[in-house]
Amino acid sequence: MANPEPGLVRVLSGETVGPPPIWLMRQAGRYLPEYRDIRSTFEAFLDLCYAPERAAEVTLQPIKRFDFDAAILFSDILVVPDALGQPVWFESGEGPRLEPVATMEDIAALDGDRAITKLSPIFETVARVREELDSNKALIGFCGGPWTVATYMAGGRGSPDQKAARLWAYREPKVFSQLIELLVGISAGYLIGQLKAGADVVQIFDSWAANLGDGEFERWIVEPNAKIVAAVRRAVPDAKIIGFPRGSGLRSSAYAAATGVDGLGLDTTVPVDFAARELQPTIPVQGNLDPLALVAGGAALDEGIDRIVAALGDGPLIFNLGHGIVPETPIEHVARLVDRVRNGG
Ligand code: CP3
Repeated sequence: MANPEPGLVRVLSGETVGPPPIWLMRQAGRYLPEYRDIRSTFEAFLDLCYAPERAAEVTLQPIKRFDFDAAILFSDILVVPDALGQPVWFESGEGPRLEPVATMEDIAALDGDRAITKLSPIFETVARVREELDSNKALIGFCGGPWTVATYMAGGRGSPDQKAARLWAYREPKVFSQLIELLVGISAGYLIGQLKAGADVVQIFDSWAANLGDGEFERWIVEPNAKIVAAVRRAVPDAKIIGFPRGSGLRSSAYAAATGVDGLGLDTTVPVDFAARELQPTIPVQGNLDPLALVAGGAALDEGIDRIVAALGDGPLIFNLGHGIVPETPIEHVARLVDRVRNGG
């Protein structure tokens, strides 16, 4: 068959593909020496995200080395606040820093009109990668979930409890919802731009979905994700969308049903037998090896892989980690993962 659709796209249409397509969240990054080489030629991390030729090269590095079934655009979820005009920078060894947004006036000062233009170099990266990538491999674009991005915008940095955003959302829900609505609009436009430039699939990373009560989960995770999915589908009706509401646990099936995503990213804490019984019959799933099992290697890695494939391999599955790969991951362990998922133990 000439030019078959990438396996990852077929899985998201509900097909069972064996062996399952493989990619890893944060597969381009510091654990790769070839990434560190290119990264060292840029002082600021975001400058690399806005440099199409180099970002395309970094996007393709893990495909060349490991033959993954999908490439994920090299960028970051925090290009969105940057494009809105909020100062964003990365402290080396520590993570992102932003000048916090705290008031209605701060939100009003963000420039939604300029954001998509500012993001246009990233669309060029997508087009370049799609041109170079084999047609049997998928290109994944992404954005952060509005809540997750807002936690960084409000807190000025990552935090274990997302206190700044959670308190703001309780104290001034109307003001906070203005920020979420702004992010819904820009994020949808950003995903549409990536799909039009050649992305086959997009993923919404709602990495900080765990610490919310029922009403807040509905309002700040489910509703904004559903609005993004609807807006993307209005512009690109056959768009394939993966939702990753990390830490949503028992709420994940309600999230999947209400948002209409095509695939559900599972974090490491989701039991695979539960996923096989309760989730996979209604939606393709992606996940969920512990990134630290990949660091440890050996029996922890082999058993972790085998458990996922045994529980979920007979249905639509995309093999992935339960969260991003960490910098200390040995390269040989990644090669072993690919071999074991494809060829068994
Ligand atoms: O998956 C990929 O390979 C594509 C690129 C990608 C990056 N960030 C590159 C990156 C993706 C998909 C992201 C998503 C992202 N960024 C998320 C959601 C997923 C998750 O991990 O929860 C979040 C919360 C961020 C925000 C962010 N960016 C943080 C907290 C950090 C610092 C921590 C760290 O790992 O350094 C970043 C920096 C970042 N984003 C780096 C890379 C390769 C490292 C910076 C560098 O190379 O100097």
